[in-house]
Amino acid sequence: MFNKMIAAMLPYFPKKLIWIFSKRYIAGETVEDAIRASKDLNSKGIKVTIDILGEFIKNLSEAEKNKVEYMELIDRIQKENIDGNYSLKPTMFGLLLDKDACYGHIREIVAKAASYNNFIRVDMEDSPCTDMEIELYRKLKAEFPKNVGLVVQAYMKRTYQDLENLMDIHSSETPLNYRLCKGIYVEPEAIAYKKYEEINQHYLEDLEYMLKNGVYPGIATHDKPLIDGAYKLIEKYNVPKNMYEFQMLYGVTPELRNSIVEKGHTMRIYIPYGKQWFGYSTRRLKENPKMASLIIKALFFR
Ligand code: FDA
Repeated sequence: MFNKMIAAMLPYFPKKLIWIFSKRYIAGETVEDAIRASKDLNSKGIKVTIDILGEFIKNLSEAEKNKVEYMELIDRIQKENIDGNYSLKPTMFGLLLDKDACYGHIREIVAKAASYNNFIRVDMEDSPCTDMEIELYRKLKAEFPKNVGLVVQAYMKRTYQDLENLMDIHSSETPLNYRLCKGIYVEPEAIAYKKYEEINQHYLEDLEYMLKNGVYPGIATHDKPLIDGAYKLIEKYNVPKNMYEFQMLYGVTPELRNSIVEKGHTMRIYIPYGKQWFGYSTRRLKENPKMASLIIKALFFR
């Protein structure tokens, strides 16, 4: 209860204080910071996916600016020979303001990544975006079958059905490519599972569906029981190592991450960077209320 109260108060805390605790989750404010973090992980045999922080813009001129930033990032990362791809949030390109303009921007970014034979992952945001983000993926995959992927959220009651519906654009040459995560936004009970056990059960059902149908999953979790469940499914369906990967967030559970790498599985770390780190950080801190209570202790019990 106490931790939840603190989590609710996080947006009102001084930015400097939040930074002290959130810097472990963010590479930094600049592309150089993202490159440094990526090279460090690459040197340990770990791939990355780089994300420029920002979401839910208020006017379309911001979308244009964000697109230019991604285009420059892609050129820069390719020059640096980093073993990594990119993630982006459609609301950063105006999904909720002008769907077609948003599509145009993201299409240009995917085309740029495709010109380097690279890949863009479309993050999944909250439920008002779900249908539009699936539609975006469908359109992009039709034009760039190997260069785009989507995130799906195990807590959404619709997800299994979405997986089945999307099979019409799957083929063994250009498999569907999903990142499967639990889901981080606060959603109503009518559309989302709420209990830990329920979410985990559906996570493993979704994963099994992907593995048995030749869909490429990014198994994105830090939850040990889910990772153990994934190992069992990989064995059950005898899935080759190049047909799945594990994914984790920058700065979270490094020991567990290393144990997966040591077993010879592909691991990719999500590296966020940029000036708009505050919203991302407060979400991560809400997810982990123990960290939030450390903040309040730092504030009042110095
Ligand atoms: P769970 O929350 O049960 O955590 C399991 C354990 O992991 C915890 O007990 C703790 O030990 C550790 N842990 C988890 N989070 C931690 C943290 N912040 N700090 C410290 N320890 C922590 N969501 C979404 O809605 N759309 C998206 O596009 C994405 N994208 C995405 C990419 C990647 C690579 C990952 C790993 C996750 C996402 N997510 C996401 C977030 C995801 O939905 C989910 O909220 C978090 O991954 C936490 O869920 P876990 O599966 O780790 O389990």
